[in-house]
Amino acid sequence: MPLQQLLSRIIGNDIHHAKFLNTLSFMENSGARKISASEHPETVSLMILKHAAEEHRHAYYLKKQLDRIAPGICSTYARESLIAPAESRSYLNMLDVLTSRYVKQEMGISGTNLRFAAYLFVTYAIELRADELYPLYQRELSYIQHKVTVKSIILEEAGHLEEMIVQLADFSSDWKSHADVIIDIEHRLFKKWIAAIQKAVTE
Ligand SMILES: [Fe+2]
Ligand SMILES: [Fe+2]
Repeated sequence: MPLQQLLSRIIGNDIHHAKFLNTLSFMENSGARKISASEHPETVSLMILKHAAEEHRHAYYLKKQLDRIAPGICSTYARESLIAPAESRSYLNMLDVLTSRYVKQEMGISGTNLRFAAYLFVTYAIELRADELYPLYQRELSYIQHKVTVKSIILEEAGHLEEMIVQLADFSSDWKSHADVIIDIEHRLFKKWIAAIQKAVTE
């Protein structure tokens, strides 16, 4: 099923939609926490602080949007309130683990630098994905004039992608070839995630 069609199907069912929205909030929150965890305690930059703050805001904003489907729905990140909970959790975790392994083995980076390099590559791959997924989701929401909106997130994600490119170019002149490997890993994990969501909404 094409992604657009899957999103349309999710939105067409309030329970699926609420779980999907809550899952996006959960993933934004996990991402925000990972950024905060990878911050250097002294040299953390304004750009990284902004990035962490905005990802935390996305988690909050998406959670607030749930009220527009039904007040009080999916109030926690418990398994039963997420869509494809296992795959949703493992998407980010596996991306992190596999990226860290690649950076360590293929780029010979370790310690604090490893955490920072993993942050750069993981976030870059996620921002590329966010730049695809949120506009598609918004298009479907707008099409049926749904009260939920993610427009304010789309703008910030586009900014994040540009910022990641600046930081990666600063980090390594060879960043693009490494990023391509991470993008391949992300594609695989995203496919698994989408397949699990598709299964959840067609069952
Ligand atoms: Fe975000
Ligand atoms: Fe972002």
